[in-house]
Amino acid sequence: MLWFKCHEIIPGFILALIYVALSLSGVFLYMEYESIEDVDTHCRIAYTAERNTAAFRQRNYSAFVVGFSGEVGRHLLEVLNRAKIFGKITLIGRRIIKLNNLGPEFEQRRVKFDLLDDYADIFEGIDYGFCTLGTSHGSVQSAEFNRVDHDYVLKTAELAKAGGCKHFSVVSSHGADGNSSFFFNRAKGLMEETLMQYNFERLSIYRPGVLLCNRQEHRPGDTIFQSLLRPVAYFFPTAVTLPVETAAIAMLNNVVVPNNRSVDIYENKAIHVVAGMASQYCPPELVPLRHYGNSFHRKDHDSEF
Ligand SMILES: NC(=O)c1ccc[n+]([C@@H]2O[C@H](COP(=O)([O-])OP(=O)(O)OC[C@H]3O[C@@H](n4cnc5c(N)ncnc54)[C@H](OP(=O)(O)O)[C@@H]3O)[C@@H](O)[C@H]2O)c1
Ligand SMILES: *[C@@H]1O[C@H](CO)[C@@H](O)[C@H](O)[C@H]1NC(C)=O
Ligand SMILES: *[C@@H]1O[C@H](CO)[C@@H](O)[C@H](O)[C@H]1NC(C)=O
Ligand SMILES: *[C@@H]1O[C@H](CO)[C@@H](O)[C@H](O)[C@H]1NC(C)=O
Repeated sequence: MLWFKCHEIIPGFILALIYVALSLSGVFLYMEYESIEDVDTHCRIAYTAERNTAAFRQRNYSAFVVGFSGEVGRHLLEVLNRAKIFGKITLIGRRIIKLNNLGPEFEQRRVKFDLLDDYADIFEGIDYGFCTLGTSHGSVQSAEFNRVDHDYVLKTAELAKAGGCKHFSVVSSHGADGNSSFFFNRAKGLMEETLMQYNFERLSIYRPGVLLCNRQEHRPGDTIFQSLLRPVAYFFPTAVTLPVETAAIAMLNNVVVPNNRSVDIYENKAIHVVAGMASQYCPPELVPLRHYGNSFHRKDHDSEF
């Protein structure tokens, strides 16, 4: 799998060649129509999310988001701000950022991730945890990648668990595998394996392919990259790409719907289904009435890709 930071598009030309070759070979076509394991379970989450929302909201749970300043993180905040399912949301990051139009339930806390143990009290009593922390491998040494995507994530999870977190949701990656010879896949895989040993009541692991961002500001590199991915995402929307907002909606749908399984792993296409954006894979009785599954989704984002 190709790895980028969402807005970092330097090896554009090489990528272009790779992408053309891949699309010509029909790999995307195969991936697009490849079947999903457990599709009914995923469809049911999207189908029942909206009707579970009111009951969930009444419980007045609290949540934290680590990595909230990132691409997935910021979209998660938007979705949470619209859905209003938590009474309190603590945003934990290495810096305070300016966030507009968020409700009073949001609160930012600045921490030093190397000394996260010192901030254990922040996690005290928080019911739900979302971790969208990560770094890009393109510009990053393996040690730094390990530190953020493995060490910081696990430390966050450890403190969350100690503080009483019931359901921990984490963004991993396609290809995560503790035995992989690629350091990023290995780091993500080892992170997942260790997380499973923490015995959360629920643990949800998301494995996106290539994240697509809807950016407000114009960045030249972005345009090249996005114009390469756009046709792929257009013809094969669930094969390798995942709009960051779809990821955020999937995370939200999944927390409001009760689930007996303690560990869920969602691959790229499954994330689309859980978000209610790929009902073509669902049996007719589980296709949400509204085309996009739930009211958290804003239609205007759709035309982007
Ligand atoms: N991009 C892709 O195509 C892709 C593909 C598969 C999986 N993923 C995974 O998806 C997840 C989210 O990706 P994204 O694109 O939303 O990431 P992003 O935009 O790069 O955001 C990363 C988040 O992690 C924080 N962070 C990074 N390095 C840090 C450090 N050294 N110390 C403290 N915080 C740090 C950032 O905080 P600051 O804002 O302070 O920097 C930000 O909140 C990541 O786990 C990534 O590995 C991405
Ligand atoms: C929900 O919890 C928050 C604190 O977590 C509290 O301030 C608020 O009053 C609670 N709301 C209700 C309706 O209980
Ligand atoms: C690596 O693979 C072996 C055999 O398939 C398995 O027993 C082991 O748990 C794996 N290790 C990791 C770190 O995934
Ligand atoms: C979860 O388990 C309970 C009892 O063990 C059962 O009644 C319920 O239907 C199950 N829910 C799902 C979604 O499987």
